[in-house]
Amino acid sequence: MKFSGKTVLITGSGRGIGRAIAVKFGQEGANVVVNDLHDDDNAKETVRQVEATGAKAIFIPSDISKVENVAGMIANAVEAFGQLNILINNAGVEIRAPFCEVTEQQYDIVMDVNLKGMFFLTQAFVKYLQQANMPGVIVNNSSVHEELPFPNFTVYCASKGGMQMVMRNLAVELGPLNIRINNVAPGAIRTPINASLLSKPELMVPLQNNISLHRLGEPEDVANVIAFLASDEAKYVTGSTYYVDGGLAFHYTEQ
Ligand code: BGC
Repeated sequence: MKFSGKTVLITGSGRGIGRAIAVKFGQEGANVVVNDLHDDDNAKETVRQVEATGAKAIFIPSDISKVENVAGMIANAVEAFGQLNILINNAGVEIRAPFCEVTEQQYDIVMDVNLKGMFFLTQAFVKYLQQANMPGVIVNNSSVHEELPFPNFTVYCASKGGMQMVMRNLAVELGPLNIRINNVAPGAIRTPINASLLSKPELMVPLQNNISLHRLGEPEDVANVIAFLASDEAKYVTGSTYYVDGGLAFHYTEQ
């Protein structure tokens, strides 16, 4: 098992890719700290699925977009399991709006969860690691749209592009502390964030034609790569983005 004796905190793990990550880490022997906004049925189901693997899990309800919450999340995780070794910044939101219709409120929601939340939670984690004099690993669940344009999702792209540069900067700053950081860039994955797309064949067919493997990915496809990057198998990997997109980002054909 990759993570025996290790503790991982996964933001936004009440459902979707976050839940698959939580279950994967449970299968690999980690103590799992599940986080989402509310202690609802989704959160309970993730905890149940992690515990079904034989691993221990706790749930911390918290809004990572509020800076005043993040230090407490790290402290709660450490209190529950004695230490925290791995942070997976998974929580993310997207709002579709043409550029001229984007409101300040929409802008703030997307940037505060995707970028600001990840930034300050990571800062709190790194401060903890420094105090505890421990190595650590961070993996961000980014998107192909940290690189690839996505019309009508400009704020989402800005947040993911920002996540890319935060990751690259921190790889340089934190390398000497033996803290690694990488991004995973999923393409079109079958998750609740895509619910409206999944229900519309007229949108699904052109999307699948833009993916080299001609199908959507599953949350587990992303979780597997995140677990690899968080493990010692990837101990010489830092400052990189790994695409998990079935070839979507660089798909190109000519007739
Ligand atoms: C977005 C999805 C989108 C996919 C591929 C993801 O980052 O969350 O809505 O379908 O990228 O474009």
